Amino acid sequence: MITFNKSQQLFMLTGKNYTYAMYVNNYGYLRNVYYGEILPSCDNLMYMVDDIPVSFSPQPEEEVGRVFSVNDIPLEYSAYGRGDFRIPSAIIRSTNGSTICDLQYKSHFITKGAVKISGMPCARYGGETLTIVLIDKEKPVEVYLQYVVFDDCDVIVRNVVVKNIGNEPLYLDRIYSFCLDLPFGNFDLIKLQGAPAFERNVERCELSHGISTIQSLRGASSHMLNPFLALVEKVTTEQYGNAYGFNLIYSGSFAMHCERNMSDSVRVTGGIQDNASCIVVEPNDCFETPQATMVYSNEGIGGVSRQYADFIRAHIVCEKYVYKHRPIVVNNWESTYFDFDEEKILNFIKCAGKAKVDVFVMDDGWFGNRNDDTTSLGDWYINRSKLPNGLKTLAKACKEEGIGFGLWFEPEMVSKDSELFKLHPDWALGEPYRKRRKGRNQYVLDFSRKEVVDYVFTKMCDILDNNDICYIKWDMNRYICDAFSQNPLSSQQGDIMHRHILGVYNLAERLTTKYPNVFFEGCAGGGGRFDLGMLYYFPQIWASDLTDAYQRSKIQYGTSLAYPLSSISCHFTNSPNDRTKRLIPSTSRFAMASMGAYGYEFDLTKYSQKDFDEMHQYNEKYKNTERLILEGDLYRLASPFEKNMFCQIVVSKDKKTAYLVGLKCIDEPDYIDDRIRIYGLDDERIYYIDELNVSLSGKYLRTVGLVVRELGDFESFVWHFSAK
Ligand code: GLA
Repeated sequence: MITFNKSQQLFMLTGKNYTYAMYVNNYGYLRNVYYGEILPSCDNLMYMVDDIPVSFSPQPEEEVGRVFSVNDIPLEYSAYGRGDFRIPSAIIRSTNGSTICDLQYKSHFITKGAVKISGMPCARYGGETLTIVLIDKEKPVEVYLQYVVFDDCDVIVRNVVVKNIGNEPLYLDRIYSFCLDLPFGNFDLIKLQGAPAFERNVERCELSHGISTIQSLRGASSHMLNPFLALVEKVTTEQYGNAYGFNLIYSGSFAMHCERNMSDSVRVTGGIQDNASCIVVEPNDCFETPQATMVYSNEGIGGVSRQYADFIRAHIVCEKYVYKHRPIVVNNWESTYFDFDEEKILNFIKCAGKAKVDVFVMDDGWFGNRNDDTTSLGDWYINRSKLPNGLKTLAKACKEEGIGFGLWFEPEMVSKDSELFKLHPDWALGEPYRKRRKGRNQYVLDFSRKEVVDYVFTKMCDILDNNDICYIKWDMNRYICDAFSQNPLSSQQGDIMHRHILGVYNLAERLTTKYPNVFFEGCAGGGGRFDLGMLYYFPQIWASDLTDAYQRSKIQYGTSLAYPLSSISCHFTNSPNDRTKRLIPSTSRFAMASMGAYGYEFDLTKYSQKDFDEMHQYNEKYKNTERLILEGDLYRLASPFEKNMFCQIVVSKDKKTAYLVGLKCIDEPDYIDDRIRIYGLDDERIYYIDELNVSLSGKYLRTVGLVVRELGDFESFVWHFSAK
């Protein structure tokens, strides 16, 4: 709910469990008053407002004595140059070179529904929007701060629109999506850091003085640092305490900063990465930033995750798919890599039928002359030497087996060795007079150019229109450098990275709109672009190329901090694992893959009837718990980053059923207590635990817990709970 108290000039955003308040102070600045636990309406929020500045803080010339400085108040948005020495959220340059900007309140309006951001993914379905207009009396600019709130979840969505109301261009050297100043700073910072095949590891450290940054300069949100961060109080744990979460609805290069100041207040700000970038806004034009999201919870880190899961399911992922059964796929990548032909694939499809999965996905290698990763990206026509009868034969074979047919694409790329590159070398990003850097032997197409996006769209439509395809795996296997567009119409290069990602969104929007019945899965060399921008188009994303259940326990645990289980694509794969060579029992490999959107990556052609029978059982087991994965609340019970164990339980919203998965990492001596306290159940109910054949109260399970003993390395336990 959004309210405005005129006499106090006070804006209040109120959700189920939070209050967010800001007001226009006597000097015209929009100042944060409070963000946290919901407060009773009898409290006067302005009681503790205190704007006395510290020494060395610049203040208005007309004032006598030390009464006010923008440096010392919690601002809702801060531009550079007028004495706020914290990290600015905007640097707006005029043609005379001045970057000084002073943003003050002008007006506001409240509208029904969540505001749309043109050409970009944004929060949707319901909501209410508050727009506050800020102006600079000396610079021809209007800055619109937009806040979107929803009744059904505690996430606040923010972004900024800059309007040039002058006669000359404005140059945005920085234009972040949000700024939040919190009055206390004794926080820990939690981030999700990683690497290819080791994405989203949880790292918690003290937020020290100065600026802590997470960012990507890579043209994608990246394997290395996800655009999610949390600030939690020192005493906050997984289950208890104050926690703030932040995430961007953006898939390109980004930056987010947390600045702890001398007064121990904290500024959090971020958005589009602005190193070497500049966005030009022509007179009468606007620039819209991507949206940022913020959440507060007093239920610990787990509370932030559950709030985000609810928000993402209700307001980011396409409603048609979000709660729908996710097709159980079998993918041929780990079993064939590029080495397949029609016979092999037909054989594979037969086996996929026997395995009773929903969809067979043919991965990389089906197009152009692609037999390894050196050629053919961009040539989206069938590799006839491998598949002489085309995709139709394969789709038909799938149909005969009663399963769907899925296909891999990497739309944003072009191989040097490709027809497309020969024809249009200028369609790849890079300067004409300098050799480009390649990554996985490929270049990045210049998606800032409409004709390039149109071309790829047409080629993908050709394949989709002529073949019975129900599933697309959309991959992206390198980062962007040489970010230069050879488009003769491109007057400036400072926003190429951003315009490129707008092109990616454009293609995703057009394809998902034209083919509403095709299910899209995101992927980027594993989980290199796992973010809210992508989830807007693709209900699930391949979490990592590392499918070893033990390593996955960390990747999936970390990913679940910011994203719902149903968005995390997980496959049950070989043992020994293809990459790590680790031997892991099939029960554990299933258990780990079942904590997400489930599928397989096996060489089914080597399977015996007994193996297929086992697969049928696993399919059924997964289907029996899938509702919980799609709709439930997640409680993380043991962290593989802190303990020798992974354990999570997902509980139905009515708290009647729950599904728990635990994995022992490395076995330790028996005297180490592996007690699991089970949170998330209803204290007052009695639960029957199927596998243990025991009934215990929710309260007992939470306070006393259960002890798991005698598990060897990588062994797992799976418990189903039902309330009596
Ligand atoms: C990426 C993906 C893999 C597979 C290969 C194909 O690495 O993450 O799953 O699709 O590309 O080249």
